[in-house]
Amino acid sequence: MRERLVCATEAQTLALGVALGSDAFAGMVVCLNGPLGAGKTVLTRGLARGLGLSGTISSPTYQLVAIYEGGRLPLWHADLYRLPEGADLQDLALDHAMEGVLVVEWAERSPEELPSEHLWVDLEILSHGRALTFQARGRHYHATVERLGDLRR
Ligand SMILES: Nc1ncnc2c1ncn2[C@@H]1O[C@H](COP(=O)(O)OP(=O)(O)OP(=O)(O)O)[C@@H](O)[C@H]1O
Ligand SMILES: [Mg+2]
Repeated sequence: MRERLVCATEAQTLALGVALGSDAFAGMVVCLNGPLGAGKTVLTRGLARGLGLSGTISSPTYQLVAIYEGGRLPLWHADLYRLPEGADLQDLALDHAMEGVLVVEWAERSPEELPSEHLWVDLEILSHGRALTFQARGRHYHATVERLGDLRR
């Protein structure tokens, strides 16, 4: 199951994130991939808003993961662009699993297996906006991708 959506503006990417956050479930893993400036953090910001989190989300560049609490579910926001040496991603994946939502920027840089079931998102930079392709990996994510696709129809 796969859906490709074009977001002409940053506000549209943000809104897509809000939809994703409103739909999020405990144990959800969202893997974001795409070049610098593609909109991974913008999407995460929307997702946080969809979870009911207020406050600023910035990329956790100098730490592996930032945890935001106070929303419907806690949000674990990881950025693997500069992966700290000896970082244990297995722990990261397990720790969040029972309780929250894990978003991983630059997921393709993970030297270890991320959870095998996840939502895989490829972000492309277009001349006017961004294209986001959502892929359900695991049955829990099919409904999520279907609902994102419905936003376009
Ligand atoms: N349609 C769009 N969707 C999202 N962002 C957009 C769009 N159009 C322009 N932008 C701009 O692109 C930038 C996206 O930045 P963002 O930090 O989200 O990228 P990123 O993928 O997280 O990059 P990095 O790999 O550095 O973490 C922002 O400056 C935003 O204003
Ligand atoms: Mg970012």
